[in-house]
Amino acid sequence: MDLRHRDTIYQNAKAWVYEAGKIIKEQMNNPLNIETKSDANDLVTILDKQTEKYFVEKIKDKYPDHQIIGEEGYGDQPKELDGTIWVIDPIDGTMNFVHQKKFFAISVGILHNGVGEIGLIYDVMNDTLYHVKRGEGAFRDNQQLANLSKDKQLSESIIGMNYFWLCENRLVDYRVMQDFIRTIRGARTYGSAALELAFIAEGTLDGYLSMRLSPWDVAAGIILLQEVGGVVSDVDGNKWDPLNKSSIVASNAALHKTILEIIKKGRK
Ligand code: IPD
Ligand code: CA
Ligand code: CA
Ligand code: CA
Repeated sequence: MDLRHRDTIYQNAKAWVYEAGKIIKEQMNNPLNIETKSDANDLVTILDKQTEKYFVEKIKDKYPDHQIIGEEGYGDQPKELDGTIWVIDPIDGTMNFVHQKKFFAISVGILHNGVGEIGLIYDVMNDTLYHVKRGEGAFRDNQQLANLSKDKQLSESIIGMNYFWLCENRLVDYRVMQDFIRTIRGARTYGSAALELAFIAEGTLDGYLSMRLSPWDVAAGIILLQEVGGVVSDVDGNKWDPLNKSSIVASNAALHKTILEIIKKGRK
């Protein structure tokens, strides 16, 4: 992607993310028209839909040849990675948004011919923007994020993961994951995959595990994390696929191999 062109796309994307965040804040105390999707705990609100529509309108107006993958289905859902693709989660952490009115983010990743070029994760209530242009550094607002340390021990690590890893599940023997929990320093569950990936990039988490995520949950976070030397794969070590759902193991490079080895012991 031509760098001048990329810079303009980045500036537009950033302005739209801030504007969308402002609209969410202004409207979040109005009735949210909460509906459920795949199950009773899979929530969607009018603001998830409205925010995605906002991005789709802006992008289609300015960049009619770009494609969009969005959670709420207003995009194009392309089958190939050719050209420029915006991967958008209008509100990541909808359950937090509905119940807590905080700990949610707008996540926008932009790929060109399959390469992650731009990532934006906006923690709306903290007014904190994590942002990256590949090769030009990762930032939290104006502060550049340092490269992740290469000599982290698992015993000193804080890992983002939810409690389903410790329940009977189809992916990994939960007893192996219970041992894992006892090995690490601590586990955290924040309820926004995008923010959890941003936390690894800023060094406040050392890893994040998820059994099943969609491209929009992780696109921006992966682009951000890779910029500071983080590593992402599925539970079997396969490379992230921007067009399909998958499990996610993201961490500091020093820990990634060790975490995969542990998961392998309990892999079903
Ligand atoms: C969800 C969040 C959550 C993760 C779920 C995702 P949503 O996204 O990222 O942390 O555990 O799997 O679906 O639905 O709030 O955008
Ligand atoms: Ca959702
Ligand atoms: Ca999400
Ligand atoms: Ca969402």
